Amino acid sequence: MDRYLIRGGKPLNGEVEISGAKNAAVAIIPATLMVEGVCRIENIPQISDVTLLLNILEEMGAEIRTINRNTLDIDCSMVNRTTAPFELMRKIRASYYLIGAELGRFGRAEVAMPGGCDFGVRPIDQHIKGFNALGASVEVKNGMVYAEAKDGLVGGTVYLDVVSVGATMNIMMAATLAPGKTTIENAAREPHIVDLANFLNSMGADIRGAGTSVIRVYGAGKLTGGFYSIIPDQIEAGTYMCAVAAAGGEVLIKNVIPKHLDCITQKLIEMGVSVTDLDEAVLVRRDKPLQRVNVKTMPYPGFPTDMQPQIVTTLLKAEGISIVTESVWDSRYKYVDELKKMGAQIQVDGKTAIIEGVECLTGAPIAACDLRAGAAMVIAGLCASGETIVEQIHYIERGYEDIVGKFQALGADIELLRDPMDPESKPVLRAIS
Ligand code: EPZ
Repeated sequence: MDRYLIRGGKPLNGEVEISGAKNAAVAIIPATLMVEGVCRIENIPQISDVTLLLNILEEMGAEIRTINRNTLDIDCSMVNRTTAPFELMRKIRASYYLIGAELGRFGRAEVAMPGGCDFGVRPIDQHIKGFNALGASVEVKNGMVYAEAKDGLVGGTVYLDVVSVGATMNIMMAATLAPGKTTIENAAREPHIVDLANFLNSMGADIRGAGTSVIRVYGAGKLTGGFYSIIPDQIEAGTYMCAVAAAGGEVLIKNVIPKHLDCITQKLIEMGVSVTDLDEAVLVRRDKPLQRVNVKTMPYPGFPTDMQPQIVTTLLKAEGISIVTESVWDSRYKYVDELKKMGAQIQVDGKTAIIEGVECLTGAPIAACDLRAGAAMVIAGLCASGETIVEQIHYIERGYEDIVGKFQALGADIELLRDPMDPESKPVLRAIS
């Protein structure tokens, strides 16, 4: 199995460049299905979730040209089918965005029930509620979602019972070409929702209010091709900020939107870390003991749940007892047992974790159980004494571009041990065509 070997205990110093946002890219790529013409998209992260979605679009008939490492031309004009290989679709969560895009383009959709990280129950009832409000009937059968608007989609109003990133983006997509006005109330406000709206608007859509809790979509006749650059990844940036906080050192984190990081920055400052906002960068320095804090995850602009495993791991290095409350997902502490192998003192009680700072973590063989938990395992290895082996790294490669190379550039002693026999072991990169 592919693994990372980490020899910890070294502070991090230097500069790191943040890649494009995974959770924006995995929505924008399916959204190209609704565009007549070529979409040139820049700052696309080289991660396996993106490669998978591109493979799905190609299976559906899309033409994709790689311009350079992070820029693609995507043309879905020739796509004329709504089905794609089941096995590919059920591998990731974001395949659910094909429902909104196919409904918007064809008035019908056939998509596998989404996969993705195991945080307990992950329903799509709010997505379906939104599609129903636009006049589509939706049936879930044999692991597939079948949606159809016999008389075509029409603008409508939906009030989301829970603040859902996925439902907000899926409904916004389906409504983009639906005649009339659609209103999404109690919408999620994450930066990637604004990025999707900006992408669609740059292709001819009329979406207003993204980033607020009320989004209005005025149905456009059609979308035509163009150019778009994806925003930097808030969570990847936050992960490097936590790594510096945990391992110590000073790092300039470049290609970020500091405003998107406020919720993380404020928490790290409370912990005694120095964080300075610069133009498209943040300078993070930790040179004194970390202080304990309490954290509660919330939808944006609150502290992101996708930073929860990373901050819990960092708080193991803080003096005293910290309490972390996970308010978005039912069970997102499966990784804690792995940290305990390294000497971590953490008690989990339902949605709450009580973290006792420890003198030192000790290296051990540990395994990633999902994307962000995997990133936390790397942070634990970087600040532990001795050697740590991180397994199941395919979870990490789903959402972090070149994590080994980036940490090596910061002086970390980390290496990738590729196992040619590992079925998951395949390069993420697409060939330049
Ligand atoms: C997105 O997942 C992200 N995934 C997740 O990031 C992230 O954890 C999550 O938003 C919250 O920020 C992608 O963008 C691909 P939700 P999503 O719908 O859309 C409940 C990562 O690490 N809910 O906002 O699936 C749900 O159970 C991943 O990058 C319903 O009840 O999350 C949860 O408790 C992991 N019914 C809450 O809402 C629905 O129809 C938030 O879920 C939809 C959601």
